[in-house]
Amino acid sequence: MRQQHLTAASAAHPQPPQHSEPAPPSKRLAVFVSGGGSNFRAIHAAVQQGAIAGTVAVVVSNAPGCGGCDYARQHGIPVLTYPAPKDDPSAGLGDDELLQQLTEEFSVELVVLAGYLKLIPSSLVRAFKRRILNIHPALLPAFGGKGYYGGKVHRAVVASGVRFSGPTIHFVDEEYDTGPILAQAIVPVYPTDRPEQLAARVLKEEHRLYPLCVAAMCDDRVTWREDGVPIMWTAH
Ligand code: GRF
Repeated sequence: MRQQHLTAASAAHPQPPQHSEPAPPSKRLAVFVSGGGSNFRAIHAAVQQGAIAGTVAVVVSNAPGCGGCDYARQHGIPVLTYPAPKDDPSAGLGDDELLQQLTEEFSVELVVLAGYLKLIPSSLVRAFKRRILNIHPALLPAFGGKGYYGGKVHRAVVASGVRFSGPTIHFVDEEYDTGPILAQAIVPVYPTDRPEQLAARVLKEEHRLYPLCVAAMCDDRVTWREDGVPIMWTAH
């Protein structure tokens, strides 16, 4: 059976992984949200349609009243608050408790950051090496790093005069937006664009691309080049 990697074509594909063994069992996901949660909804919809061999076992948020958390509760998905609010440490989890809940209570195998605005603690990054994904609404490594979030990203992109933008899905390390890139998609930036128009164009691609990446991770269709670059393979 023939597989291709999902990024732009190159003349010589590396040898694809062989998948003669049975499909891996459904993976347990934790989705982290801080806002409306439209990417979370797109991923959850793909789970429900059977396009992702996974289960959203738990949602984690610093803002338990956000739209993403409301959606989780409506669908019977438990919500954890992390980090705890500064003025009420008992209202949320600490770093160790978060890690313990994810690993022991919810048996999480893959962490999916979907518009989560806080930094992930090092203990979690270490425990989930190559198993935490994030989405950024621009083509990294440009327009990323601390302070580049939400509308700020799109304003900077429009102001720069670049002609293309689009979402980046990347693995998470201990800095903002610097981990290995798994996938990107391209949308045009028009010289007449307002940042909101660009944001809507990029968001549409986010909702298409992120579920594909999560599906690939759940199917074990991501391999690693020796130099640390991940390769995502098409389903067969
Ligand atoms: C998205 O644009 C995502 O790229 C960024 O935050 C936004 C979250 O949107 N990280 P939503 O909460 O998924 O609707």
